[in-house]
Amino acid sequence: MTELIPAPRGATAGSGEVRLTHHSRLCADTATQGVAHWLGAALRQATGLPLREGRELDDAEGGIGLRLDPGLGPEEYRLVSDGSGVLVEGGSAAGVFWGAQTLRQLLGPDAYRRAPLDRDRAWSVPHLTIEDAPRFRWRGLMLDVARHFMPKEGVLRYLDLMAAHKLNVFHFHLTDDQGWRIEIERHPRLTEIGSWRTRTKTGHRASPLWEDKPHGGYYTRDDIREIVAYAAERHITVVPEIDVPGHSQAAIAAYPELGNTDVIDTTSLSVWDTWGINPNVLAPTDNTLRFYEGVFEEVLELFPSEFVHVGGDECPKDQWRRSETAQARIRELGLADEDELQSWFIKHFDAWLSARGRRLIGWDEILEGGLAEGAAVSSWRGYAGGVAAARAGHDVVMCPEQQVYLDHRQDPGPEEPVPIGWVRTLEDVYRFEPVPPELTPEEARHVLGAQANLWTEVMEDHARVDYQAFPRLAAFAEVAWSTLPAPAERDFAGFRSRMAAHYGRLDALGVAYRPPTGPLPWQRRPGVLGRPVDGPPPHR
Ligand code: ACM
Repeated sequence: MTELIPAPRGATAGSGEVRLTHHSRLCADTATQGVAHWLGAALRQATGLPLREGRELDDAEGGIGLRLDPGLGPEEYRLVSDGSGVLVEGGSAAGVFWGAQTLRQLLGPDAYRRAPLDRDRAWSVPHLTIEDAPRFRWRGLMLDVARHFMPKEGVLRYLDLMAAHKLNVFHFHLTDDQGWRIEIERHPRLTEIGSWRTRTKTGHRASPLWEDKPHGGYYTRDDIREIVAYAAERHITVVPEIDVPGHSQAAIAAYPELGNTDVIDTTSLSVWDTWGINPNVLAPTDNTLRFYEGVFEEVLELFPSEFVHVGGDECPKDQWRRSETAQARIRELGLADEDELQSWFIKHFDAWLSARGRRLIGWDEILEGGLAEGAAVSSWRGYAGGVAAARAGHDVVMCPEQQVYLDHRQDPGPEEPVPIGWVRTLEDVYRFEPVPPELTPEEARHVLGAQANLWTEVMEDHARVDYQAFPRLAAFAEVAWSTLPAPAERDFAGFRSRMAAHYGRLDALGVAYRPPTGPLPWQRRPGVLGRPVDGPPPHR
């Protein structure tokens, strides 16, 4: 009937349609003015209709009305299209916003364009009733802007794409060995030095090729404020990630004293130009703690989100084993080993964030050596970390690399551009289940939701990001939003037939998705770049 993605909880078809004309109005109560502003702007540019705004819902007669219904859950909405117009009601402005996204889908693919193709065409919404609410409160997408920088406009575009798919948490991976992307006023060299590298490995990590061209960029504090505000208008929370104590070579290149100076000459390090797990990690010193407290202080000023991500993944311990300073710290703190030293480091920031009213989240390695109470885990190395965390009473976001790492290839064929990792097809992602069956209902309540991750080592521009993300992100969105049956019982054929309409929406949005029949000639990577690299990791 309506070919909606993600599928709503319930829909009942009527007969007839609401026609939107030059006389149609867009009326919203006080609490939903922001949604009206967003919807009006989106539909005015696509349709050319004036859609004059009003506050009295009675004036919306025959047009669009938006309002709260306190009887509905926070993100729940009801959309009724009938003889008196289209009414979207939600338990909060967020619920109404998700209903407005559904309304846009109902208007057809050209409702996603930025200018009308034909000013004389008719716009209509079929008569129907939709009742809908998300399965999970955390419907996340992580974007790695460190390996390849995505300029601000591209980030704003991804926030629009997330909103169109009812995703609501943007995990912003801002720092890594290959680049530091957020301006920190008190430590200017992080971006002066750390945001640029002189050359870049081309393709997967075993590729013998480099591009001899500087790559870099960063977001100013005002860019970040704009991104956070733009996300908030779309009911998306931005969770910043500052990755410590591993994945830190760009920071060490900028401030060599942050590294293990008694083990290597950190002044010789530059921003990393290749992929993989980097041995150059932060030194566990008071200086490092004070430095990063300063970084996080500025991060908290810019990001209002409850959760702050501290990374914690892939921190090789070799330098700490060889460092007299690190070993002295282990002895002084009475720790058993280097894993406990990492745990001490993470716990320091957990206490620091908690004292400021925030909550720490980190990759599942933060479980090793004991995790501070209140901290949450992004379970990436499969489900095991998430299961252990939930059983220990920690909240979990499920993002297992075997299922929802969208940098991994999406077809076993030889034509995938830079085909790294496991093969994860559209159907595999559709059958991803965020709640492992071994959790009891009580433990399962700790699964906040699910997240798809876009690591960008092999995605040098937005077309490559689009290719890896879509269409799989649409399947992921349905997993995160809709209440689907168990994986084996999911109606993938039905999803695929709804995708036929959704490709039209993605076309109108200019998304360079992987076509259902495989890569287009310009999307293929010939020769060494396209050589399949088998999982399991380290694979990037
Ligand atoms: C990760 O993929 N290293 C979290």
